[in-house]
Amino acid sequence: MEIATFLPKTYTESIDNGSVTWKSPSNIALIKYWGKKEDQIPQNPSISFTLDACATVTTLTYKKKEVTNDHFSFELFFEGKQKDDFKPKINIFLERIHQYLPFLKDFHFTIETSNSFPHSSGIASSASGMSALALCLMSLEKELNPTMTDKDFNRKASFLARLGSGSASRSIEGDLIVWGEHLDTIGSNDVFAIKYPYKVHEIFKNFHDTILLVDKGEKQVSSTVGHNLMHNHPFAQQRFAQAHENLTKMQSVLADGDLNEFIAIVESEALTLHAMMMTSMPYFILMKPNTLEIINHIWKFREESGTHICFTLDAGANVHILYPENEKEIVYSFIQKELVKFCQNGHHICDRIGFGAKKV
Ligand code: PMV
Repeated sequence: MEIATFLPKTYTESIDNGSVTWKSPSNIALIKYWGKKEDQIPQNPSISFTLDACATVTTLTYKKKEVTNDHFSFELFFEGKQKDDFKPKINIFLERIHQYLPFLKDFHFTIETSNSFPHSSGIASSASGMSALALCLMSLEKELNPTMTDKDFNRKASFLARLGSGSASRSIEGDLIVWGEHLDTIGSNDVFAIKYPYKVHEIFKNFHDTILLVDKGEKQVSSTVGHNLMHNHPFAQQRFAQAHENLTKMQSVLADGDLNEFIAIVESEALTLHAMMMTSMPYFILMKPNTLEIINHIWKFREESGTHICFTLDAGANVHILYPENEKEIVYSFIQKELVKFCQNGHHICDRIGFGAKKV
C-alpha cells in the first residue's frame, strides 16, 4: 500500500471553527503485535476483537488562528482537568501526522477527552485515545474535503491512529480487525488495519471479554520500550514467523467455529507475548502472582466444566477472559465466585465484542 495515498488532495472548502466528538473503543489482540520497525510498521501481523464498553470519548474544538505560525497550538483536558503532562505525546503525534494533515498548524485546538473505564485501571488507553483523536482530525479534514468516501475516511483514520499507537489502528472499525501484511489475508498491509475479510462463524459474533483488573498501577516497562527490546531479541525471527502461521491457522478456526483450537492459539499468543518480555535483555515480568492464580483457576474450571473459557493478556498484569455468549451465565458466575477476589478491590469490567468507533 502506497503511503502517498494519504497525502491530501487540494481542499475544496475552507472552515473557521467548529467542534466534533468521537467515541472510540479499545481492542484486544488475539494474535499479538510485539516488535516494530521505523514509523510504527509492525514486525508481524495481528488480529483483534474490537471492544465495546472500554472506550474514549474525545471532543475536538477547532478555531482558525488569526495569525498563522509554525507550531501546533492546543490545550488538553483529561476528564475535565487540564493535563499538560499528556501534551508532549500529542505533540509528537501531531508532528508525525502533519504531512498528511497540512492544516494542523492553521488551527488552535481544544482536545477534551475522557475514558469510560476507570482512571489508572491499568487498561491501555492509547488504542482508544489515539484512534478517537485521529477520527476527530479526520472529521475536520472531511469538512475541508466533503467528497471523501467513508472507506477512505476509515482507512486514513486507521493510518493516522497507527502513527499515535500501533494497536490504535485496529480501533476504528469492528468486529474482527487485521493489521500488518499477511500473505494469506487479502488487503492486509502494514500501514492501516482492515476488517477481517473472510467468513466468521456465528459463535465468534458475540464473544464476551471480562477484564480482571489485577494491577492498576503504572507499568514498570512501557510498550514502546518493550517493542524496542524485540530488536536483537534471540527469538524474534521465530516469533514473527509464528504470528504469520497463527494467523493462517486462525482463518479456519474462525470459519469453522473451532473453539478448542481458538483457545490453543489465543492462550499461546498471550503467553508467548510475555515470554518475549521475559527473554529480552534487559528482561522483565509484567504478570503478577494473581495473574497466574487466575490463569490456573481458568484452566481447572475449563477442565471441570467443559466450557470454552480462555484468557489473553496485553502488556500488563490484567487478564482478559474470553467466552462465547451461550456460556455467559456459568462463566460469569465462576468469575464472580472464584476470580474477582484476585482483582484489585474486586474491580473488573464486563465488556464484549464491539463494532467500532462512532461519531457522537
Ligand atoms: O499499540 P502499542 O504500541 O501500545 O502496543 C500494543 C501491544 C500489545 O497490546 C501488547 C499487543 C497488541 O497487539 O495489541
